[in-house]
Amino acid sequence: MPAVPHELFVRDVRIAPNLVLAPMEGVTDLTFRRLIRQIGGPGLVFTEFIPAEGLRRDIRKVREMVAFDEDEHPIAVQLYGRSAAALAEGAKIAEDLGADIVDFNMGCPSKKVCAHSGGSALLKEPEIARELVRAIRGAIKAPFSVKMRTGWDPSHKNAPEIAWMCQEEGAEMVTVHWRTRADLYGGVRELDTIAEVKRRLRIPVLANGDIVDYDSAVDTLARTGADGVMIGRGAIKNPWVFKQVAARFRGEASIEVDAHEREQVMLGYFASIRDRFGHDKGALGRFKKISKYFTHGVPYGSLLRVAVLHSHSADEAIGVVREFFDRLRRWEAGEEPHPFNGASPEDASPSEESAA
Ligand SMILES: Cc1cc2nc3c(=O)[nH]c(=O)nc-3n(C[C@H](O)[C@H](O)[C@H](O)COP(=O)(O)O)c2cc1C
Repeated sequence: MPAVPHELFVRDVRIAPNLVLAPMEGVTDLTFRRLIRQIGGPGLVFTEFIPAEGLRRDIRKVREMVAFDEDEHPIAVQLYGRSAAALAEGAKIAEDLGADIVDFNMGCPSKKVCAHSGGSALLKEPEIARELVRAIRGAIKAPFSVKMRTGWDPSHKNAPEIAWMCQEEGAEMVTVHWRTRADLYGGVRELDTIAEVKRRLRIPVLANGDIVDYDSAVDTLARTGADGVMIGRGAIKNPWVFKQVAARFRGEASIEVDAHEREQVMLGYFASIRDRFGHDKGALGRFKKISKYFTHGVPYGSLLRVAVLHSHSADEAIGVVREFFDRLRRWEAGEEPHPFNGASPEDASPSEESAA
């Protein structure tokens, strides 16, 4: 295995380690990023995607989405949209707020975003893409990056051309998710297109898609030659992933997470979203969304997932989490051979993915 890099620079922004929290709508808000920061490990975090138009119109909800803490640097604010004027203005607002990097979303496969020529639809319309990239670049001095999929579908993988265009228009980093728009969240893992992007470009390239641990991070870096990796769902399933991979980069032993720590993180996160939402209905909905992923990293996690999803109130959800981890602790301590009536600790149930 060739040596792989452990840090990168986007102009003067140092990203060390070169492990990046992906933008995830409805997930990587301030609360989730605080959780990740408290655990530690990423060299850069992304906001969820922010509608440029909403930012320009100063919509309260959008202002909340773009908020970040003073100690979150470096942070990339990701924008999406189809209006050059709105993107330029939104980018300027993000820059003025102190974003270290302003990122443009050219990867979102959702029908809502693509229908208006935003997100991954731009891969089919390179001239519109160029116009939007140019508008953002012209509006800000801060480093600017673009995130994309490898193409619209497997027979149109034009990320190398689009990424080159972005670089020529002044982008200073690109992130490439190995899937095409048509793959949505399926498809067959293919890293050659990212490797091709990396070969053609002078600017740093982040590789993205299904990186969940040290082995997949190193394998992706080695096979693509990328400068860093971006991790999305792997960080919801396992918020310790950055810390674990970073420790291995430093040559330290792998970090194990026990039931107690998982419980603390899950309940602590729930308490923060209750605070943030101010009402239990919204907080419970968000908690269920995160739990769907988080429980994949937990032994017997499918049982916890079902119990949380069936909870009718925030208090009930907290109760089921406590009871579950109580049993898990007894199992880990060897006090209970079959804590869940002989169910398998392997979590084999399928995950439900968002279409973002
Ligand atoms: C719930 C969810 C929300 C997402 N929202 C965004 C988004 O706002 N902007 C974006 O560029 N990508 C978004 N994505 C895509 C991720 O950033 C990432 O490219 C994708 O999940 C593949 O990486 P992974 O396998 O590490 O999850 C989202 C993905 C998920 C699962």
